[in-house]
Parts: sequence; structure tokens; C-alpha cells
Amino acid sequence: QTTTTYDIELIPGDGIGPAVVDAALPLFRAVADDHGLAFDITRRDWGTEYYLEQGEMMPEDGVSRIADADSIFLGAVGHPEVPDHVTLHGLLLPIRKELDQYICKRPNVLFEGIESPLQEYGAGDIDFVVYRENTEGEYADIGGREHRGLDHETAVQSALFTREGTERIVRAAFEAATERDGTLTSVTKSNAQAHSMVFWDDIVEEVREEYPTVTVERLLVDATAMDLIRRPHEFDVVVASNLFGDILTDIGAQITGSMGLAPSGNINPSDDIPSMFEPVHGSAPDIVGDGVANPLATVLSWSMLLEDLGEKTAADALWDAVTNQLADGSAPRTPDLGGDAGTEAVVDDLQSRL
Ligand code: NAI
Ligand code: MG
Repeated sequence: QTTTTYDIELIPGDGIGPAVVDAALPLFRAVADDHGLAFDITRRDWGTEYYLEQGEMMPEDGVSRIADADSIFLGAVGHPEVPDHVTLHGLLLPIRKELDQYICKRPNVLFEGIESPLQEYGAGDIDFVVYRENTEGEYADIGGREHRGLDHETAVQSALFTREGTERIVRAAFEAATERDGTLTSVTKSNAQAHSMVFWDDIVEEVREEYPTVTVERLLVDATAMDLIRRPHEFDVVVASNLFGDILTDIGAQITGSMGLAPSGNINPSDDIPSMFEPVHGSAPDIVGDGVANPLATVLSWSMLLEDLGEKTAADALWDAVTNQLADGSAPRTPDLGGDAGTEAVVDDLQSRL
């Protein structure tokens, strides 16, 4: 009997990134062992520490060094002493773009045992997934600044919407809708942004022809922000541009309990290019070093990685351990979920539930 060995590139990054990554790793290894899976994990100490020594967030050929992996896992990037656009554009964005990970998939699930700030909502009432465009849109690195320091100083930041880029994220969302409840919400701002967003609407109408069973709702982003608070139970699959998806998924994380619970995948569906999984949260400088970072977003992201590799049973084992722990009122919880336990206690408890 032959076993495949999966090659994983691990980038713990900055702030609480290494803390949650290191805490969750033994758990991941335990699940892998239980399911007879072999993983070869290469750790890359890239990020802000690296930047402060080397002047760059990762080596110049960093992306090509990790491009042959089966999958990539990232903790978080960002450091109070270095501007965020430097850290983001030096590590996370180049990986997403150069590996063409054009789907940012972010599930938003209200677990049993979690109190939503929305009073009437209980377990399972909120369960939607956001498909965020991940390689272009408002995060295209196109623009510039002129006449610095003068009264007529000018900044231009262009958003880029291509037919291919828009079609493929819209199509991925339609596909997801056919596998879920069959409802797709397309988020735009086509009243104000009459070029890019009307183009987006047109593409949704075109692709829709291929998916006659999916019900399509078109919603402006400001109305979506409101409706995620007012009627989150009605959302199933949400497709949005890079910026809008980014903002809406922070709302999604909050209404389902905590930023510390939100997992994500940056997905390139082709077999020869790796996807990258990461918690939605950042480096959380306000709690770094306190030992209280919630590791569950990281654990759920590992589960998404396993599912993406086709290892569904192992993926479910991790996901179910988290579900099980959250449903247990006496289990340890980190402060973001109203508890007083530390990262390690949460992971130890999960280990016992595997
Ligand atoms: P953040 O996600 O780091 O923190 C927002 C709030 O949520 C903070 O109060 C934090 O303590 C809390 N939080 C986040 N993760 C948590 C966890 N696992 N357990 C418990 N509480 C948690 O976002 P913020 O503060 O806007 O950004 C901090 C830094 O992270 C910045 O440098 C930013 O650029 C970077 N960032 C990086 C991201 C990434 O690596 N994907 C995403 C978002 C921000
Ligand atoms: Mg974000």
C-alpha cells in the first residue's frame, strides 16, 4: 500500500500568527496520523521579522519556492512598526496574485454554543459562504501619487475588472450555489460605480444562463452590510469583489461570534498550483504575547485545507472537534468568546475530542 506524502508550505508570519499556527499544528498532525496521511511540512520564517533584517518580507523568489507545494498555510501578517501596505504587498498579496488564487472562500457559520450579537439567532441560523474575488478589483496595484507635499498633491488608485477575472469568480460562486441551497447574492455598487460594477452585473446575467436552477439576488454593498445584520439567515452564497468581500466577511465573522472563529481559503482550483489557507484575522497586536489568541479559526482553516486536498474524512474530524467543543458549555474558551482560557487549553481540549 502506497501513501502519498503531501507537501505543505507553512508561513506562520507575524503577531499571533506563529502562536495560533504552533498551537494548532500538533492537532493537525494527530488528525493526519489517525487517517494514515503523510505530510511534509516546510516552515518559512518570512514576515516582518524577516523584513526588519533583510529589507523584504520574503526572498525575491519566495513565491516560486512555494509554488510546487500541494498546499500552503499562512498565519497572519502585519506589525505595528511597519506600514500595513508594506507587509501586505510584500507577502500575502503577491502569493495570492502570482499563484492566481482567484477564489477567496470564507464560510460564515453560527455554531451551536456561540452567542451571536444578533439576539434572535441561534445555532445554524447563520450559514453562508462568501466568494470574494482575490486577484484584481480594488486591490490591483495600479495607481500613484504625484506632487507630494504640495497643495495639489494627488493620489490615484485604479480598480481592475477583467472579463476573465470576473467570470471565473462568478462561475465558482454559481457552482457553489448549486451544491448548497441554490441562492446566490451578487454584491455590487452599480448605482455609483457605473463602469466596473455594471460590467460585473452584465457578467452575472451571462453566467446565470448556465445555472437556471440558481436564484440570483442582486444587492448593493451598503444594503448588504445592513442586511447581514437584519436578515443574515437568508444568505447562502455571496459573491463580491475583492474590497467588498473583504469588508463583508468581517461583518460575517462578528455576527457568527468572533474574528477568532473565521477560516478562509485562497483557492486556485487547478491541480498543479497550490491553494493557501489562513484564518481571516490579522496579527492582532493588541493581544500578542498574552497567550489568549483563539486558535479555532486556524484549526478550521486546516480543515478547509484537508477538504481541498480531497481528504474529507480527516477534514470533518477537525471541523467536528471544533463544533463539539463549542457546543460544550463547560469546555475552555478564549476571551473573544467570553471565556478566560488560553490558546493551549483550547487546543488540549480539542485534542481530547478527536
Ligand atoms: P486583527 O484581525 O488582527 O484584529 C482585530 C481584532 O480582533 C483585535 O481586537 C484582535 O485582538 C481580535 N482578534 C483577531 N484575531 C483573534 C484571535 N484569533 N483570537 C482572539 N481575538 C482575535 O485586525 P487589525 O487589528 O485590523 O489588524 C492588525 C494587523 O493585522 C495589521 O497589521 C493588519 O494589516 C494585519 N492584518 C492581516 C491580515 C492577514 O494576515 N490576512 C488580515 C487583517 C489584518
Ligand atoms: Mg480582511
